[in-house]
Amino acid sequence: MTASKSRADHSAADLTPQKRAALVKRLLGWYDAHRRRLPWRALPGEMPDPYRVWLSEIMLQQTTVAAVGPYFHSFLKRWPTMKALAAAPVEDVMSAWAGLGYYSRARNLHACAREVAAAHAGRLPPDEAALLKLPGIGPYTAAAIAAIAFDKRAAPVDGNIERVLARLFAVNTPLPAAKTELKRIAGALAPAKRSGDFAQAMMDLGATICTPKSPACTNCPWTNDCAAHALGIADTLPAREAKRARPLRRGAAFVAISKDDAILLRRRPPKGLLGGMHEPPMSPWEATFPDDPTGYAPLKAEFRKLPGLVRHGFTHFELELQVYRAEGVARANGAGEWAPLANLKAFALPSVMRKVIDHALAGRNAGPLFATSQSAVSRDADR
Ligand code: ADE
Repeated sequence: MTASKSRADHSAADLTPQKRAALVKRLLGWYDAHRRRLPWRALPGEMPDPYRVWLSEIMLQQTTVAAVGPYFHSFLKRWPTMKALAAAPVEDVMSAWAGLGYYSRARNLHACAREVAAAHAGRLPPDEAALLKLPGIGPYTAAAIAAIAFDKRAAPVDGNIERVLARLFAVNTPLPAAKTELKRIAGALAPAKRSGDFAQAMMDLGATICTPKSPACTNCPWTNDCAAHALGIADTLPAREAKRARPLRRGAAFVAISKDDAILLRRRPPKGLLGGMHEPPMSPWEATFPDDPTGYAPLKAEFRKLPGLVRHGFTHFELELQVYRAEGVARANGAGEWAPLANLKAFALPSVMRKVIDHALAGRNAGPLFATSQSAVSRDADR
């Protein structure tokens, strides 16, 4: 074998058992030395707690490790076991989830806890197929839990792992079309032993070395195996199909503040986007702002339009809201629920609604309640 042939000759098609074993060995060796300490991770030699693994995996769907940390700790403190979580009212779980985004995850988390408590004596089943049947557990999460919590041979593939594999084997097909091929490669690579460590090593490699921009190839255990590195194209992969622009929707939100510092909230319909969460009353979201916004005001009061807009990015559209505020409002008849400002954090308010409230309260002495940032648009989240 020539020197140039011995470098990065791993096309996905010729992954021989020897090459596979060598790749696995190098990555696990790197993981033993460089693994991240994460709150949900068992230490070397410790048995992982499936409840913690499951809880973390649900929270980590579409959310960063840094954002998940405080939520993970507070959930674990409040509901230390699957049975404790199953016994909690769903509203408490939704409120505790507020701010983390993708709220159907919280609803499914609770439904899953109930099912595991009822049908599996409070213990998650160890195999991928049984996990896949539970609420909120899709193919990625089932594979991650099977591997990490139960050390079953399974190959979770998230965005980080897609990137690592697309580079390792120089897969040029753009995402999302490349997903099937990358899954196949991940399945072929996953070892039978230390499967959980291998999966977590892939996650860590993607998060710390094989980063989207300027990957740290010189520190990578696979640098000499990496087809994209050999071709000098690591930072161009994975390729992606051009994104279509998201449509813009617009609406008007009404923040009514009572004399005793409460604001009027209502609940969104149980199904659909932000289902069951709280919000200030507002108009429907349409292509243009409503012609007669005050027609959507929840009660008779002097609503004034505030300067500026609240912007929020959802997965499939961008939202712009005009905010109307009325102060010193008398708590009038059953238009919703008056939420004391001092206790607002107990309500399940998604990020977009927190932005609306902060916008309405801007300029008050107490400052913003949630410290949301108008410019920090949450990208692809129904937060
Ligand atoms: N992202 C998703 N699951 C993860 C995990 N278990 N560790 C680190 N990052 C993750």
